[in-house]
Amino acid sequence: MLYPQFPPGFRFGMATSAYQIEGAADGKSSSIWDTFTARPGTVRHGEDGRVAIDHYHRYAEDVEHIAAAGVHDYRFSFSWTRVQSDPAFYDRLVDAILEAGVRPVPTLYHWDLPQDLEDAGGWMNRDTAYRLADYAGTLVSRLGDRVRDWITMNEMSVHTLYGYALTDHAPGRGLGLAALPAAHHQLLAHGLAVQALRAGGAGSVGVANQHFPVSPASDDPADVAAAGLFADLTNWMFSDPLLRGEYPNEMIQAEIGDPRDLEVISAPLDFYGVNYYEPTMIEAPRAGKDYSGVLEVDIPEGLPFSPVPVKSDERTDFGWAIVPSGLTEILTTLRDRYPNLPPVLITENGASFHDAGPGPDGRIRDHQRIAFLEAHLQAVAAAQEAGVRVDGYYVWSALDNFEWAAGFDERFGLVHVDRETLARTRKDSWYWYRDLIAAQRRS
Ligand code: BGC
Repeated sequence: MLYPQFPPGFRFGMATSAYQIEGAADGKSSSIWDTFTARPGTVRHGEDGRVAIDHYHRYAEDVEHIAAAGVHDYRFSFSWTRVQSDPAFYDRLVDAILEAGVRPVPTLYHWDLPQDLEDAGGWMNRDTAYRLADYAGTLVSRLGDRVRDWITMNEMSVHTLYGYALTDHAPGRGLGLAALPAAHHQLLAHGLAVQALRAGGAGSVGVANQHFPVSPASDDPADVAAAGLFADLTNWMFSDPLLRGEYPNEMIQAEIGDPRDLEVISAPLDFYGVNYYEPTMIEAPRAGKDYSGVLEVDIPEGLPFSPVPVKSDERTDFGWAIVPSGLTEILTTLRDRYPNLPPVLITENGASFHDAGPGPDGRIRDHQRIAFLEAHLQAVAAAQEAGVRVDGYYVWSALDNFEWAAGFDERFGLVHVDRETLARTRKDSWYWYRDLIAAQRRS
């Protein structure tokens, strides 16, 4: 079999996040996701992460599944509330990852804010940024002797939009455009965390932002303007401040763009993490047209843009359009937009298919996931050929896990997890990824 080839030194990895896998909720105080999932109607089938996939107790087995594929890096996240009461868990986890010959690449914050900070205003409160910087300092002094690479924040855009502007994710505030300060305070938290991590001796610091091409549904200037605003609010609002030291448009700049903060926010990074799933198409709202069901979240009426379905013959079982060329496109767009773009790491890419458990022969034949991953790796290679420096690629996700508001139906893992027994089974895609990594020319 022929596998896509990458330059020597290219890093293959897998990614997860704390709330989605750890469980063991009793051993710590509540995060906003504990509170949110306890509210009826927030998650499909009323599921939650109290047990999740019980990674807290099964981490040794999970690290073995990750390492046995031959990956170089494992991206996971810390649970902030667990760090407060049970930080030794992360000593055990990091030691296990290192003993398995894998590089730990932790994310400080993947959406699970301590509930007491939310009660004090959450990301709408500027003070939360300083609390995150303190937490970064605690972690780097505890683990900095063993962890070299750090990611500050995960997808500040999705957290702001789904959690603060809309009501689909924790904390479910539904503030609309009034949520802009939640974006700014997360960006400030990122900048302050970069300072704290560097002061603590961190070797390499980056961020993980979601990016995707946004195209207008037509050449009509109204559609073009609507798509431009949507791209600002979902993409550029979270990368321009980091990589250009400014906000992408005057409305946002006037609302939240304090120049002193922007200087902190735009401190140089060692790498820039890109999470990619699917592109978006936008039009100016047409009076009387029904837009419900286009995204898995409902966009309230009255906004100046409306997502419309992306034309694509193929979709994942989550309903997301499969458009690998969108990954090449967003990478070249980032390179063109930011002359000082640091080396890129694809910190997440993957697909949910509703894989059944192992058949009588023990196998899980997830050929659609293999095709998805292969096409997206080809898209990364195409971006490299076009001159974008991409240093690595992490599959979302190592294991099936709690997919936020969609609960456990959506399966992104290379390793299958049985909902009843929590038994782990490597899918065919796991074996394919192992063989792809082994087939790379290393010199
Ligand atoms: C997030 C993950 C999530 C994945 C699939 C990203 O938005 O960082 O936590 O599971 O996409 O939805």
